[in-house]
Amino acid sequence: MTTVEDPVAAAARCTPEFRRNPHPVYAHLRDEAPVCPMRPPHGIDTYLITRYEDARAALSDPRLSKDMYGAMDAYRRIFGDSSLALDDNMLNSDPPKHTRLRKLVNSEFTPRRVESLRPRIQDVVETLLDGCETREPVDLLPAFAFPLPITVICELLGVPRDERSQVQGWSTTVANTGFGEEFKQAQAKAEESMHAYFADLLARKRSRPGDDLLSALTATRDKDGGLTENELISTAFLLMFAGHKTTAFLIGNAVYHLLANPAQLRAVRENPELVGRAVEELVRYDGSVETATFRFATEDVEIAGTRIPKGALVQIALTAANRDPLKFESPDQFDVMRPQTEQSAHLGFGHGIHYCVGAPLARLEMQLALTGLFSRFPKLALADPASEPRWMEVPFPAFRGLAELPIVLEPAV
Ligand code: HEM
Repeated sequence: MTTVEDPVAAAARCTPEFRRNPHPVYAHLRDEAPVCPMRPPHGIDTYLITRYEDARAALSDPRLSKDMYGAMDAYRRIFGDSSLALDDNMLNSDPPKHTRLRKLVNSEFTPRRVESLRPRIQDVVETLLDGCETREPVDLLPAFAFPLPITVICELLGVPRDERSQVQGWSTTVANTGFGEEFKQAQAKAEESMHAYFADLLARKRSRPGDDLLSALTATRDKDGGLTENELISTAFLLMFAGHKTTAFLIGNAVYHLLANPAQLRAVRENPELVGRAVEELVRYDGSVETATFRFATEDVEIAGTRIPKGALVQIALTAANRDPLKFESPDQFDVMRPQTEQSAHLGFGHGIHYCVGAPLARLEMQLALTGLFSRFPKLALADPASEPRWMEVPFPAFRGLAELPIVLEPAV
């Protein structure tokens, strides 16, 4: 077992060492405290789950609720009042509301529907890569990893081109995690602006519908009242929010690990059909959703011998579960040849009724991004291979992603 000094404090404070490599801490927790009580800065009793089987069971345990209205006090303390209007969506609800809201968008994200987006996503990839050619060294995050998913999700939703950078700005502020007063005020302002923006955009879709998802959802609401106006606004926000930062971070993590592991990159280059498998392995090995999977206990619940009291917050560390040696052979090894079967499924897109709606889209974007990038720039390399990458520093590890990814397209030999 790895010995780690005060792992719970390291994780709760999210020290720079923990950010750089949380896995020794997670290994310790899996062994010693698989359902670990923590006291994050928001002060709500929190339990962190790190083992695969416990995580999988917790993700689909009906006693662990996602309904924010059922846990309003705690929810307000964690996220503040300004989030309430935007979070009135499937991610923050239980059945039957969850079933009703999810049904409205499910059909838009089936593998077949998503496959029809391939040519357009490919175009976006190529255009962004054209832009990279003119700069060197390139920070791949702002040049490619962030604009790709934001462009794709904005096109799908029908957000006009000249309004996208504004929406991206608000969305980034909302997605940041922090507890300071200044941070909270900036976040509240961005949340209010985003709510007002989507209310206005939906009004425009009503008067001039287009061939996009928001026009379709607006028509559904007006025809049979399948959702309230605020649920409609919140759903628009959720798709925007869930659809961009997660994918952008994963592109960054994926490119970094492939460049840092030349044998793995060579395997994918020599066998392009491996790219789908490589993406699954990358989601398992260093996925972008770390513990942003909170639930509230609606009654006392016992998991792995630990009693979680009613009202406590439960966080499921997907990145820890995906490295559990009881589930995966040599889990700390990045191996694009790892067999992908239903039995060996990672939890990087969640599990159960809240399993990521956008997973088929994220997978396709990832595959096209990696294939496009590595075939356009065969000599692509890390700008400074000897130095440690810089990971996003956040007070609690909700998402996992790099702060920057400087690369060179044609390294000087
Ligand atoms: C839910 C991960 C991309 C839309 C989730 C959940 C995870 C996840 C772990 C479950 C959260 C929970 O159970 O608490 C990811 C990752 C992505 C990604 C790692 C990229 C690599 C996307 C995209 C979209 C999307 C591209 C949309 C276009 C959603 C939605 C939910 C969700 C709407 C809520 C589903 C529900 O509550 O039923 N995602 N996601 N995600 N994701 Fe994703």
